[in-house]
Amino acid sequence: MPLAELALENLRCIQRAELVLAPGINLIRGPNASGKTSLLEGIYLLGRGRSFRTRNPERLIRHGEEVLQAMGRTSWPTNQRIRVKMARHQPTSGEIAGVPAGSLAQLAQAFPVQVIEPGIHKLIEEASPRRRRWLDWAVFHVEPNFIDSWQRYARAVRQRNAALRTAPDTARVWDGELVRHGDAITSARLRLLESLKPYWADTVRRLADLPVDLRYAPGWNQDLSLEESLTESWVRDRHRGLSHSGPHRADVQVRIDGHTARDILSRGQQKLVATAMVLAQLKMLGERMALVPTLLLDDPAAELDAEKLARFVEQVKSLHCQLVLTSLNPEEGSFGPPDRTFHVEQRRVQPV
Ligand SMILES: Nc1ncnc2c1ncn2[C@@H]1O[C@H](COP(=O)(O)OP(=O)(O)OP(=O)(O)O)[C@@H](O)[C@H]1O
Ligand SMILES: [Mg+2]
Repeated sequence: MPLAELALENLRCIQRAELVLAPGINLIRGPNASGKTSLLEGIYLLGRGRSFRTRNPERLIRHGEEVLQAMGRTSWPTNQRIRVKMARHQPTSGEIAGVPAGSLAQLAQAFPVQVIEPGIHKLIEEASPRRRRWLDWAVFHVEPNFIDSWQRYARAVRQRNAALRTAPDTARVWDGELVRHGDAITSARLRLLESLKPYWADTVRRLADLPVDLRYAPGWNQDLSLEESLTESWVRDRHRGLSHSGPHRADVQVRIDGHTARDILSRGQQKLVATAMVLAQLKMLGERMALVPTLLLDDPAAELDAEKLARFVEQVKSLHCQLVLTSLNPEEGSFGPPDRTFHVEQRRVQPV
């Protein structure tokens, strides 16, 4: 589902930009601080409802402005208009084909997009939320019912936590919902990791050549069922006013020879392993679901030596997906000659 058109208003330094994109390779070039990464953030916003650089939507809105808008149109097989709006002190809203999205998660299905950017090593280095998002994004595409379970589960956890703080004696009425949807989420995630296995093994070998395992930790004591674990952690839940057990605390442990990857890998290796996690998903979605997401590459050569970069380029090329890449180098052509080139300078975007 390539993105055919993009229009942005008041996103970081960009007051206004309109781009007609090619389904193949799109290059965005320009000097430092011209707005290249901001353009990628605008594209990402359409499929994710958030940025890959910050959790705080306010940071994306152009200084002195109140509202940011990103608008896009996807092409084949579904020609669909998507709009994402962020206003100060308001929740982000999305609209797909003119209809308000009930949840931002729906954007993922309307426009599948992934990014590989200089901060990608955080997928290895940081705590579990990034890895859960990584996993869930793929599950959303493979299992259509997942969004529903996930939303119901998230609501039940919110209600239970609210009750723990205000009327703890009533909090356990949510346990049934938590267990029903929590078990559905856990099974769906496990199925996904199982089908990812061959793609993961192949990609991480080709890219990083390291024996890295991905293992799902469900978010509670594995010797107990979720139901039993809710009972076990009840005293602690009540004491802290927080639900401690369930798939909202799950992780995908990245391990190498029995060690946690973040403890022993170099920054460059973390970057390669995280990149392999993203590319393995894209390969799997392409082969199993005939789904070809758009891939954003922000400064792809950063921190990779020539040999690793060549491996990376080969893997990316094999995906045959729409690429939008940024570069400081006006002659950038590692992924093949660009079908379309845009030059960004002083916050203006011009096709070349
Ligand atoms: N909310 C905002 N309002 C206005 N300008 C902003 C806002 N947030 C960031 N900027 C500015 O936007 C500019 C462009 O940033 P961006 O990261 O997109 O540049 P870039 O072309 O990717 O640079 P680099 O080559 O260094 O990666 C920066 O000068 C930054 O200070
Ligand atoms: Mg940048």
